[in-house]
Amino acid sequence: MLANLRSLIVGFTAGVLVTAILVQQLLISQLWDPIIETSQDPLGSSTAFPDTLLHQMASLRNPLRVAQGALLRGAYFKNVHSAQSSVQQRTRSSLLKPATSSSSTHPFSTSTSRMASSKSYLEAAKERRTIYQLNKTSPIPDSKIVEIIETAANVVPSAFNTQSTRLVTLLNKEHEVFWDQVHDVLKPIVPEDQWATTKGRLDGFKAGKGTVLFFTDPEPMDTLKKKIPAYAHHYGDWAEQSNAMHQYFLWVALEAEGLGANLQHYNPLVDQKTQQHYNIPLEWKLRAQLVFGGKAGEAGPKETLPVEKKVFVHGAE
Ligand SMILES: Cc1cc2nc3c(=O)[nH]c(=O)nc-3n(C[C@H](O)[C@H](O)[C@H](O)COP(=O)(O)O)c2cc1C
Repeated sequence: MLANLRSLIVGFTAGVLVTAILVQQLLISQLWDPIIETSQDPLGSSTAFPDTLLHQMASLRNPLRVAQGALLRGAYFKNVHSAQSSVQQRTRSSLLKPATSSSSTHPFSTSTSRMASSKSYLEAAKERRTIYQLNKTSPIPDSKIVEIIETAANVVPSAFNTQSTRLVTLLNKEHEVFWDQVHDVLKPIVPEDQWATTKGRLDGFKAGKGTVLFFTDPEPMDTLKKKIPAYAHHYGDWAEQSNAMHQYFLWVALEAEGLGANLQHYNPLVDQKTQQHYNIPLEWKLRAQLVFGGKAGEAGPKETLPVEKKVFVHGAE
């Protein structure tokens, strides 16, 4: 009698749990976030949604995301390994030189062979600024610049370790060729009365030593979408986030070596010309250009919002 009652309770509880999970999955699949997809548009097509509507929809989605996250978190970690092996299988571009071993590189060190403490990282991060006045002098040789960029490619994280960021480094004459091309693309489309300002900016970039072009290769994300469709709506955002991490990593690392830099966005205007010239696969998407060189001027003034408006701490002891 007692045994029958126990199996009845166990059976009932299991039934309720299975039904709850099925309903949750159904809700998740039907309310999968279309706004995230639109916000991937580099021209910001998500602005087509009125802000208030966006916020209302976001607040509706968030509790669901939490539930969904808890449900799928296990799947993410389980899937990292299989995603990684697919990344390893598809190294294909002749442009992607094999990176040197990163074990002996210390991108945040300047004179010492190893970053002494997290304070060195913080100091470099604090000193990094947008520097527009650049020249062609560099405290470090080109080989060291390339080593830092290879290190970024190897150590900056990416979702499922997809490594979808591509870094095209242009130094010296090639850096100048790139900015001449930007000049040629912009000249016919910039209004005449604004051309002097635009040309002044372009000349300033050309005066620098090098430019890193940050691309996103969509192929790893397309592969993942097929392999692990549950996260398909996130992959575009995650690729962008990882690409931005590369940008920031390099900006700080170059600062640590005494170089100045500024971040530009002449994409998508220059994409086609650049990709054809450097034989870059046309499906890669140019996301940003980091211009760097010797510091020939100071950073401009910068306002910093009170930290209390940006940082919220709970539970510090
Ligand atoms: C995502 C992002 C995009 C940016 N785009 C540009 C840009 O297109 N042109 C530019 O001159 N600066 C650009 N900047 C530089 C910012 O204006 C600059 O980082 C910001 O004003 C803070 O100044 P700081 O870099 O000196 O700390 C960008 C920065 C970030 C993080």
